[in-house]
Amino acid sequence: MAMVCLSDFEAYAKKYLPKIAWDFFAAGADDCCTRDENILAYKRIHFRPRMLRDVSMMDIRTKLLGTEISFPVGIAPTGFHQLAWPDGEKSTARAAKAMNVCYITSTYSTCTLEEISAAARGSLRWFQLYIHRNRAVSQQLVQRAEALGFQGLVLTADLPYTGKRRDDVRNGFRLPPHMKLKNLEGAFEYGLPPNSIDPSVTWNDIYWLRSLTNLPIIIKGILTKEDAELAVRHGVQGIIVSNHGGRQLDGGPATIDALVEVVEAVQGSVEVYLDGGIRKGSDVLKALALGAKCVFIGRPALWGLAYKGEEGLQDVLRILQDEFRLSMALAGKCFAGCLSSVIQRFLHMSHL
Ligand code: FNR
Repeated sequence: MAMVCLSDFEAYAKKYLPKIAWDFFAAGADDCCTRDENILAYKRIHFRPRMLRDVSMMDIRTKLLGTEISFPVGIAPTGFHQLAWPDGEKSTARAAKAMNVCYITSTYSTCTLEEISAAARGSLRWFQLYIHRNRAVSQQLVQRAEALGFQGLVLTADLPYTGKRRDDVRNGFRLPPHMKLKNLEGAFEYGLPPNSIDPSVTWNDIYWLRSLTNLPIIIKGILTKEDAELAVRHGVQGIIVSNHGGRQLDGGPATIDALVEVVEAVQGSVEVYLDGGIRKGSDVLKALALGAKCVFIGRPALWGLAYKGEEGLQDVLRILQDEFRLSMALAGKCFAGCLSSVIQRFLHMSHL
């Protein structure tokens, strides 16, 4: 089977993964409206392409908080990579390193942070944190990640409780016995309790995190200008506009639709990124055109792993990179990165 676009990897994963794993990856909350809207919203946004602009040289590198990456796509934090490929997050880290992109490692990894760092020394990795009721567990994780050379701390803000994903409930989803949440082993005597995440977290906890680490703090799950302003006021260095791939609150906006108000609210004071529904290079260009510095992929990375581990994920990233470069050229835009505000003029927002 020729793998030409990201949907090919989706079809492969659906066909070959065990149903319970496929359902877990694909799941959205409730009716899955927000999950699906993340993708549909891109189809309502159109370019205003410009011609004869010498696109023979395309530089698609950019920087994340000062660190250069090969193009403005990274890997969003997703849990349980061993469900997709036996080497799990080690393969993810290797692929991200080979492609020189940022890999945000989930709290719920099936490899230890030590194994992940050793698999891809010197690569750009951020650590994603869920704050647990047992604060000592979270504190240790943050400090472990910093000591291991993770370069950013991503606080996920949209999961005080887990959304209701119907297929997971029907399947009685749980990790197979031979897979473990390796970074939490020992922290909970009888495995991870279902309500271990602290639902009482507030903005003040950013100050608590600040007291634990010198890492830049990036907040993930922001969808409104009000929260974007609060994030800036509480001193974060970055914001990821995200609705958790539609797995939390069903009925919220597509992330690409929420992006503009967040970008306007922060007025360039912090970097703004986006995840949710990125399936093509032209989606990346649309997000950049609307002010995102970089985007992250969740499910497509898992499909790549399911196809061929590290190699499969590299294939996914390479396809997105090629498509992104081609879209930029065809839209008449020969530079990325710092010039996202200039790109805005190349978009026609047909739904506004
Ligand atoms: C996630 N996501 C997620 N987010 C997070 O902060 N920590 C996590 O452990 C997970 N785990 C997770 C598992 C699976 C299977 C999925 C699909 C998603 C959300 C993820 O970071 C991201 O927001 C979305 O996946 C982006 O949407 P797309 O790219 O999947 O459409």
